[in-house]
Amino acid sequence: MKTPVRVAVTGAAGQIGYSLLFRIASGEMLGKDQPVILQMLELPMDKAQAALRGVMMELEDCAFPLLAGMVGTDDPMVAFKDADVALLVGAMPRGPGMERKDLLLKNAEIFTVQGKALNAVASRNVKVLVVGNPANTNAYIAMKSAPDLDPKNFTAMLRLDHNRALSQLATKAGVAVADIEKLVVWGNHSPTMYPDYRFATVGGTSLKDRIGDEEWNRATFIPVVGKRGAAIIEARGLSSAASAANAAIDHVRDWVLGTNGKWATMGIPSDGSYGIPKDVMYGFPVICKDGKYEIVQGLEIDEYSRSMMDKTLAELEEERAGVAHLL
Ligand code: NAD
Ligand code: LMR
Repeated sequence: MKTPVRVAVTGAAGQIGYSLLFRIASGEMLGKDQPVILQMLELPMDKAQAALRGVMMELEDCAFPLLAGMVGTDDPMVAFKDADVALLVGAMPRGPGMERKDLLLKNAEIFTVQGKALNAVASRNVKVLVVGNPANTNAYIAMKSAPDLDPKNFTAMLRLDHNRALSQLATKAGVAVADIEKLVVWGNHSPTMYPDYRFATVGGTSLKDRIGDEEWNRATFIPVVGKRGAAIIEARGLSSAASAANAAIDHVRDWVLGTNGKWATMGIPSDGSYGIPKDVMYGFPVICKDGKYEIVQGLEIDEYSRSMMDKTLAELEEERAGVAHLL
């Protein structure tokens, strides 16, 4: 039997938490032979703590063979103690008519507090995924609040955008989602993101050539993917939850278990690649192996792509300036 992995999940009684925890405990994130200990954080208010207790009772009632232990707490220092993986989900979601960056000042402080707690008590190799919006800038805040941890341990979730793009492309091209490779979503998890299928292949042949419709790319595909979160809120009255949890599982599974040479999109602190300034938390194409990610290098950036990549970068820099006083 493997040693259990400690997985901290914040916002554990929220809607994403409810779609996420049961899948982690059943082995879908870290493998069907990997026991886990869930360390769940919620707000101290009675209602949140009662809801958390209910979730823990349900986890118990599933009798998951891989669930080796559970902790429910309102203290980040307890939730992150020795955590190997930390999913930072707990934050306010947006409502209709809002942009994710409108949440910035409401949510930013959560990530200074939690970054400091991770710095103090988490495993030195902790893999952190920030889901709470605005995810890129919150991940940046957490990273900067944890000076003793490797910045590479902090990531933001662009995987939902990547998965949304895959489905739109598969439908347009009449191919299976699983057959599409080499897709990337550059930049911010916001409407300025740049989903880019110029390098994508299906069975080794160019997806762009197969689609052959640049007007559709620019006028339909990019805005549909970029505004999908708002479309879900409009339809459900609540922001995406099951698809967000699914993307979080995909992100961490690929990071820990590897992508077998395939590309994934992760929001990571830039190392300067593709002209993105160091440390900006930006969506890049990556390949994961042995628990580490590497940016796919050498891709040609044409004029249109450069302008799209710079636009989403400018927004991230503006968000970063807006929280500079907290760091
Ligand atoms: P929710 O309101 O249903 O749940 C959030 C939970 O977090 C609540 O139970 C709340 O009590 C808890 N919480 C708030 N502050 C906390 C703190 N400081 N510590 C611990 N727990 C705390 O919201 P949700 O639908 O689960 O969404 C959570 C966040 O994820 C939102 O910010 C949302 O916008 C974001 N989100 C991001 C993506 C993405 O792709 N990056 C996708 C979907 C949602
Ligand atoms: C999403 O993309 O679905 C989430 O970021 C929630 C939102 O506010 O759009």
